[in-house]
Amino acid sequence: MVFYLAFRSSGRWKELRVRQDEGKIIQRTVRDFFNNRADSWDTKIADDPKRVSEGIIRGLGISKGSRVLDVGCGTGLIIPWLLEETGENGHVTALDIAERMLMVAREKYNKPNLEYVHADIASAPFPDGSFDEVICHNCFPHIAYKDIAVRQIFRILKPGGRVTICHNESREAVNELHSLIGQEVGMDMIPDAEELTCMFRSAGFVRVSVCDGDEMFVLEGRKPG
Ligand SMILES: C[S@@+](CC[C@H](N)C(=O)[O-])C[C@H]1O[C@@H](n2cnc3c(N)ncnc32)[C@H](O)[C@@H]1O
Repeated sequence: MVFYLAFRSSGRWKELRVRQDEGKIIQRTVRDFFNNRADSWDTKIADDPKRVSEGIIRGLGISKGSRVLDVGCGTGLIIPWLLEETGENGHVTALDIAERMLMVAREKYNKPNLEYVHADIASAPFPDGSFDEVICHNCFPHIAYKDIAVRQIFRILKPGGRVTICHNESREAVNELHSLIGQEVGMDMIPDAEELTCMFRSAGFVRVSVCDGDEMFVLEGRKPG
């Protein structure tokens, strides 16, 4: 069986044919979960975690002119900060599996150097070495095929590029919240630091670091330059 993901390339929407198997069905469930919440999503983001998120993104030291991929951009929480950090010569690609989340983001932010892509990161529709930075904010636990996604992120990063997996809460708080919500996201967990480090190193990343504090969780890794 196959299903289709639409993605934008050279300003036009294209369809990507994707094999449907058990994992993809799970992804579709995640997609439906977020699509169903897209219209009210922004009303549920509290100010304090938002401030933490801004601090994380601003603190990354993203170079002006960078090409950045926002994985699981949702309704675009970090997009304005990414646009500011990369500057007018930079480029931000905002990717999400849930088309309604993308639609809400697109209604809010529309710039010549901002592009929206509807896709599963595990089937990332980009050529090798496309990005200087790949940032996955509050999204990683929901990715069904984490190993595949991490390998895809490695592939689409430029040599010397950086991956950042981040959350505006500790790992424990994120995992507890998902357990509490249950339903389609009840099993969506951030793996422990050892498993994550192994996953990212196996994909080829070096200088993998995990910082799990009271207010935030940040993993960083580099593709060798
Ligand atoms: C909790 S929301 C976070 C949205 C946004 N990054 C933020 O911080 O507000 C997680 C997002 O990840 C998206 N997502 C989940 N799995 C994905 C995947 N495999 N590929 C791309 N996006 C995915 C969901 O559709 C959802 O919009």
